[in-house]
Amino acid sequence: MSNPQITLVFATNNQNKVKEIRTILTDPFEIITLTEAGIDIDIPEPHDSLEANASEKSQTIYRLVAKNCFSEDTGLEVEALNGEPGVKSARYAGEGRDFQDNINKLLSNLVNETNRKARFRTVVSLIWEEKEYLFEGICEGHITEDQKGLEGFGYDPVFIPDGATMSFAQMTMEEKNSFSHRKKAIAKLVSFLKNKLHE
Ligand code: IMP
Repeated sequence: MSNPQITLVFATNNQNKVKEIRTILTDPFEIITLTEAGIDIDIPEPHDSLEANASEKSQTIYRLVAKNCFSEDTGLEVEALNGEPGVKSARYAGEGRDFQDNINKLLSNLVNETNRKARFRTVVSLIWEEKEYLFEGICEGHITEDQKGLEGFGYDPVFIPDGATMSFAQMTMEEKNSFSHRKKAIAKLVSFLKNKLHE
């Protein structure tokens, strides 16, 4: 007999994240997007930690759908900038600015800086049978001097993970997944749920 499907609503409006998560969470997982769940809201990210924002997003969606769901919040933490942009990664260059504005601000804040160490940190909040669980994934690496590659999203063109020579934006999705913060956090969620289902 085949394993039952595990259906989870993914609390995000970011289609890049949906695309990535769908390459990670494959069978027996079935991912329902907010659009597919008939939900059209701007999910708030008002807090000053990834954990609190991830939690707010999954709780908000759980209140609306009352189904098992998860969210994630990710930040780029740059050592020479004391961990910035961190939880403010999406709005680093200001409200309403785009990925390119954020990259421009980051590179200009790092001009003449020799310490380029940085990491992506993802926190996943899962609500499973009414209880919340958090999972973390970290990818260490460094910030390039110039943008490289056209794939991916966000800061991908300026981030090279440790152990690679290409930026995330020069990699295929599978190559990015082999290093990525998001993949590591989701792998923890997968093994948690597999254990739960075998309890
Ligand atoms: P959030 O989790 O949607 O708040 O993401 C914050 C910001 O971090 C996004 O707007 C992106 O700019 C950036 N970001 C998140 N994940 C990634 C990634 O995997 N690669 C590059 N940038 C990312």
